Amino acid sequence: MPDCCNTGSTRYEDVFDDRFAHDVAKRYRRRGLTAPERRIVDHLAALGLADRTVMEIGGGVGEIQLELLARGAARTTNLELSGAYEAEAHALLDERGIASRATRLVGVDLASNGDRIAAADYVVLHRVVCCYPDAERLLGAAAAHARRALVFSHPPRMWFTRMSVGLGNAFMRIRGREYRGYVHSPDAMYRVLERAGLQIRPLLTGLKWWVVAATRA
Ligand SMILES: C[S@@+](CC[C@H](N)C(=O)[O-])C[C@H]1O[C@@H](n2cnc3c(N)ncnc32)[C@H](O)[C@@H]1O
Repeated sequence: MPDCCNTGSTRYEDVFDDRFAHDVAKRYRRRGLTAPERRIVDHLAALGLADRTVMEIGGGVGEIQLELLARGAARTTNLELSGAYEAEAHALLDERGIASRATRLVGVDLASNGDRIAAADYVVLHRVVCCYPDAERLLGAAAAHARRALVFSHPPRMWFTRMSVGLGNAFMRIRGREYRGYVHSPDAMYRVLERAGLQIRPLLTGLKWWVVAATRA
């Protein structure tokens, strides 16, 4: 697998560490995709996966990519800022015998150094914009790399999500960690995608995650 081996960022690796990766992979092996993940996969499958390439930003152990590859996507590329997922991700790919169709890059932030990253038919960001300070910049870069469609999730901007992220950030501060969570303005994020020529459509509006489809007209 032609993967790059840049180091990840400690801001993310302090939180999204080996244990987090192990827990996600274990849950996925036992129970499969979560409801928002299933919605993302079903949406892209409905758009068509044959001969399509997928880029996932912050894809963790890559469970969405595994399902898309199993359902016929040609190739996937995962961009991550934490290197802690790689062992679990490679084990999952090897178990399914699809490692040759997957590329995993660690330490590439599309928002600041994405020029050398090729575009893909579909771009996915699940549970990522809430971990990144400048969601508008990241989504702008993601949209510029999406030939056909982008799909992303974000927490709803409600009092309870803001309170829970605020408490999480206070905990991070006390522990001396750099990582912070965010509940960005959905309207501002949608505007970035619309300005990039994508049409927005909500796919799921749950209490924890909203999933939004953005498709080229
Ligand atoms: C909450 S985790 C979610 C991981 C995976 N999507 C999942 O649902 O299990 C958020 C991930 O986004 C990654 N991340 C945040 N900003 C990123 C960026 N600009 N590029 C790549 N990865 C990013 C972090 O390293 C972290 O692993």
